[in-house]
Amino acid sequence: TITSLNALEILDSRSRPTLKVKLTLDGRTRAEAQVPSGASTGTREAVELRDGDQTRFSGMGVLKAVRNITGPIANAVIGKSFGTIGELDRTLIDLDGTENKAELGANAILGVSMAFTRALAVSQGKELFEVLPTIGSQIPRLPVPCFNVLNGGVHAANRLDFQEFMICPVGMPTIAKAVQAGSEIYAVLKKQLAAAGHPVGLGDEGGFAPDITQPEEVLDALVTAIEAAGYTPRREGVAIAMDPASSEFRTSEGYYLVAEKRFSSDQMIARYEKMVDDYPIWLLEDGLAENDWDGWQRLTQRLGDRIELVGDDIFCTNPAIISRGIQKGVANASLIKLNQIGSVSETLDAQRTCAAANYRQFMSHRSGETPDTFIADLAVATGCGHLKAGAPARGERVAKYNRLMEISAEHPELPYGLGY
Ligand code: PGA
Ligand code: ZN
Repeated sequence: TITSLNALEILDSRSRPTLKVKLTLDGRTRAEAQVPSGASTGTREAVELRDGDQTRFSGMGVLKAVRNITGPIANAVIGKSFGTIGELDRTLIDLDGTENKAELGANAILGVSMAFTRALAVSQGKELFEVLPTIGSQIPRLPVPCFNVLNGGVHAANRLDFQEFMICPVGMPTIAKAVQAGSEIYAVLKKQLAAAGHPVGLGDEGGFAPDITQPEEVLDALVTAIEAAGYTPRREGVAIAMDPASSEFRTSEGYYLVAEKRFSSDQMIARYEKMVDDYPIWLLEDGLAENDWDGWQRLTQRLGDRIELVGDDIFCTNPAIISRGIQKGVANASLIKLNQIGSVSETLDAQRTCAAANYRQFMSHRSGETPDTFIADLAVATGCGHLKAGAPARGERVAKYNRLMEISAEHPELPYGLGY
């Protein structure tokens, strides 16, 4: 039985307000959760409720969401027992009554959903990952960490159009060795960028933000850093992943790249194909924009057999949109972000939809984060095989990677790696 529910406005890693939720079961089992927030958001994401009061945090305050939790949500759940996460989520979704959680706020609903899930674990004396379900035939495992070491797009103040360049230690034997590889390569990259005269300030996810404009130049730098750190830059060693987040630079006339002007969808595809030929790229997320479904189909036909093509903005962790993507042959994987859909059980539904069609699931943080490590446990439990939580630096990013190492240390029976 839920006996208390509270919420508080706190700051995220980008200094924007977000929610902390505290929940008690049976007067003694306490749990809490903190809600993440994106910057390059998909248009079909569930609604993040902001106050819009320009006198506070430029309108970004979340006091309305706090009041929705302490008011209507608390009224609906206090004194009630919910046997499963799905039962609680269904109550919150019905109370909200909209398609996109616009009434109560996806941030409010998700915070309560996450805190309740944690409370279930605590009440059973279990770890969070032990009470979350497996997905399809995927078994619990430590995911490959995809470290975002170089930032551009809306996450950095440089002129690089592509948002994320990640190094993924696919071929390491354990999560601890993978984290070590990420950290060592990050350190070498920093020295290398500094030696080339680039400033080594950081973007929102902790990766360096040099003023490089050509993505190929970044890929060259990554390959050099991987080798200089003593690792092998290839798909079976330390692989490279990219998230151009291309919805951010697409207009009705095409994809606008600062250094080269306009690209059609097919020109973007040809460029990606060349990159896959020339570099150890194994994963491309949001290579094309959320409204470019035809381009996405052609991209999938061209590269779907060679690399993992992840839909983020185009799918928004929404089971219905993912299903349409599967029908249309768009992508072969979906990004998984709790706050895009706004509850734990719907996130699990999105993963089940993927697994049933043999689409991969790439677990993800947001660019605005907190020390909350829920996604680490979720990635382990669902066996999705890979997770991105930013650079191997900054507290809110390393919290997730450190949690994975902790789970691994306490459960040495869990395998590490993609599992596919
Ligand atoms: P966001 O970026 O959290 O700012 O949306 C992450 C991503 O695009 O994957
Ligand atoms: Zn993305």
